Amino acid sequence: MLETLRWKNDQLEMIDQRVLPNQFNYLSFHSAIEVAEAIRSMVVRGAPAIGCAAAYGIALEAKKNSHLDKPDFLAALEEGWQILSKSRPTAVNLFWALKRMRQAWNTVSATYSYQIAHALLEEAHRILQEDICNNRKMGALGAELLKDGAHVLTYCNAGALATAGHGTALGVIRSAIWAGKRISVISAETRPFLQGARLTAWELNQDQIPVTLITDNMIGHLISKGEVDAIIVGADRVAANGDVANKIGTYMVAVLAKRHNIPFYVASPCSTFDLDILEGNLIPIEERPIEEIANLDEYQWSLGKIKMRHFAFDVTPRDLITAIITEKGIIHQLTQENIFKLIAQ
Ligand code: MRU
Repeated sequence: MLETLRWKNDQLEMIDQRVLPNQFNYLSFHSAIEVAEAIRSMVVRGAPAIGCAAAYGIALEAKKNSHLDKPDFLAALEEGWQILSKSRPTAVNLFWALKRMRQAWNTVSATYSYQIAHALLEEAHRILQEDICNNRKMGALGAELLKDGAHVLTYCNAGALATAGHGTALGVIRSAIWAGKRISVISAETRPFLQGARLTAWELNQDQIPVTLITDNMIGHLISKGEVDAIIVGADRVAANGDVANKIGTYMVAVLAKRHNIPFYVASPCSTFDLDILEGNLIPIEERPIEEIANLDEYQWSLGKIKMRHFAFDVTPRDLITAIITEKGIIHQLTQENIFKLIAQ
């Protein structure tokens, strides 16, 4: 299994996703500030992977400061926590994991800093293992929704690279294939970071899962030709009413799916639900530096001359979503009541 993040030689190692697929290498991290920078610069990306990385960021900070007496040690943890919490705003898994880490250091009964540091590393390991386990459960449940022979379109990368392993949307596809179904994937390139082209296509190819790469503006054409049987994407934050924030462009794909009566599924672990946010338009949407969209190979156009916006995510309203697949079950009727019943239990 592809290890997006791993604990090795007493440090965190993460695949550098900025340089895939041309280069495959792990970078090492030793502190919260280094991990926060890796999240910000997208060495690691994808909601669950960001959550796991943040948990290890706290564990690293604890290890680094475990020689300090308890008040100074706790102050260092607090500082690391604050830095990590500002790394990216939309994926709620970041805040979910940070909350768990804080709870771990608040509840552990330990006299010495090194004992707390040990407990925090254990908690980070648990978060990572739970993520893999939940993705497998989600995969097995979601696989039922995909028909044998289906051509499934996905957007961005909600695969092993976006999680601790197996993936959410790609996890469903993997599990369907493990169950003996013949599934072929259409991956849209996902400008500007090209998660679909550089990560999803590469990851599926590594597993010998049939994949066809298209540019984002070909999606409507392919759907209108009847070449897409189902769509499945991941999520960065699901509001209490079922609206879903995901990679910018997801909303357009969902509108097309509705127009052509194609099922539009979201695969999302419970850790991606934010029950404190009542509806999608309240989800904070990240805007990234315009330099990331102003370049294409050697051309740099418009920079400094024309106004640009670079939104990293958009919100798909719940009425465009056929179902949300979670590790606890599938929510077909997206109402606040059904969501609370499943997620808050
Ligand atoms: O900007 P990114 O690459 O972090 O955005 C990732 C996505 O939008 C994914 O679809 C989402 O995090 C789900 S990953 C299982």
